[in-house]
Amino acid sequence: GGLSSTTLNIVNKAISPDGFSRDSVLANGTHPGPLISGLKGDTFQINVNNQLHDNSMNTSTTVHWHGIDQHHTNWADGPAFVTQCPIIPDNTFLYNFTAPGQAGTFWYHSHESVQYCDGLRGPLVIYDPDDPHKDLYDVDDADTTIISLSDWYHSPAHELLPGPIPPNTTLINSLGRPDGSNLSITVIEVDPTKRYRFRLISMSCHPYFDFSIDGHNMTIIEADGSSTDPLSDIDQIRIYPAQRYSFVVRISTPGDYWIRAAPLQLGNTSNPDTTTSLGLAILRYTNQTGSAQVPSVDPYDSSQTPIPVNPLLEQNLHAYGDVPDLDEECDDCKLILDFAFNFTAVDFTVNGTSYVNPTVPVLLQILNGSYTAQELLPHHSVYTLPRNQTIEISMPGLVTGGPHPIHLHGHSFYVIQSMGSDTTNTVNPVLRDTVAVGGATGDNVVIRFRTDNPGPWIMHCHIDFHLALGFAIVLAEAPEDVAEYVAPIPTWDELCPIWDKAPSHN
Ligand code: C2O
Repeated sequence: GGLSSTTLNIVNKAISPDGFSRDSVLANGTHPGPLISGLKGDTFQINVNNQLHDNSMNTSTTVHWHGIDQHHTNWADGPAFVTQCPIIPDNTFLYNFTAPGQAGTFWYHSHESVQYCDGLRGPLVIYDPDDPHKDLYDVDDADTTIISLSDWYHSPAHELLPGPIPPNTTLINSLGRPDGSNLSITVIEVDPTKRYRFRLISMSCHPYFDFSIDGHNMTIIEADGSSTDPLSDIDQIRIYPAQRYSFVVRISTPGDYWIRAAPLQLGNTSNPDTTTSLGLAILRYTNQTGSAQVPSVDPYDSSQTPIPVNPLLEQNLHAYGDVPDLDEECDDCKLILDFAFNFTAVDFTVNGTSYVNPTVPVLLQILNGSYTAQELLPHHSVYTLPRNQTIEISMPGLVTGGPHPIHLHGHSFYVIQSMGSDTTNTVNPVLRDTVAVGGATGDNVVIRFRTDNPGPWIMHCHIDFHLALGFAIVLAEAPEDVAEYVAPIPTWDELCPIWDKAPSHN
């Protein structure tokens, strides 16, 4: 493979994507950050320079490459205090990884505290020259086809804790239009003679979005960096924080159409908020006679809002190609995770324990010889898993503040049972890395994956405010094999320069 090398300067900068100016944390001064892209099989070398100084937001940082499995490179995964210490101001950290076999739509974001809500997030795409769905689309260029959805707040994110606080604005490709005022919005120009592969990325910290394009159906071909069997005639995608979809749009009648991202909020889970923070952009056909204009439909008038007839249901998505045998069972391979909100402590718990960062990153604890869940910190938040087994994780029930987008690092997983579905599928389930859980009483969500990637992997709710309230665990996968599997590895001083001397390592 080739080499994709990038430098990300992490800076504070005042921006006003919705007309309100506030300081933020950005990669290379833009929101979202620059596209990082490569071809399947490439090596990624990304130099992260921390140039932060604004103490109203974290001045230390790390970056996570969401959806990249990090085989042999667990140390480059990014979550602070799981695989490395935070990068402190004026320091640099080189992330260096390959993603053999992976292609699709990914993203990167800060994995320190709630910092990505303050702006440190951007797209990462791995293009596959032999994409199996290549013949379904004509255009997949970086300038046109990446659509990112972000929630945006007028205060630093940590001031919003514990929340929930509705976002001020929904940004589509970082432009928004709050409260109906006529600010700039994103216009995506398309050639009506071509078929487009759009790559939809939710970079949300909190709400999920009902995404649609007026007058257009979508054929879904990818979920979270894995190809799916094409699923056509979808007119609405409910996308949870951190999820991605690729879809192909068939051309309709030339015109100007609203692209909508209606945020769904806590306490208002059945009705999208279509009045104050509806995300809007315009799909515009080129080569039209007459000048382009804002669509004639009033996007804030619910009587003019198209009603979806065929919204995406996760259980209708199927992984493209061969699915391994998922029915193999083993004794230590079933985990049940009970998620709850503790109203007294104001935190989230997993099986009764709220996650707090250890002072020594879990990876370094493992390299130092701690292998069992009893030895590894944080206590009761680390689960050790055996190597080369099919693991099943069940996540039952209704959870306060849900649904919750649960993300596992280091693996994509098969969704055997989706939220709201009472059937299980081990034959051709969807393969993804973030799944919605905890929507209703009696709901059970079940995932399976194979432990082929030794290392400590955090699993957490991707509502960033919930992660900050302890909604996480670490799966320590085959800890005794980590030293051999994760190699070569930077020195302790490179992974944790904030220590003068790390305790008891040599
Ligand atoms: Cu998007 Cu812990 O990750």
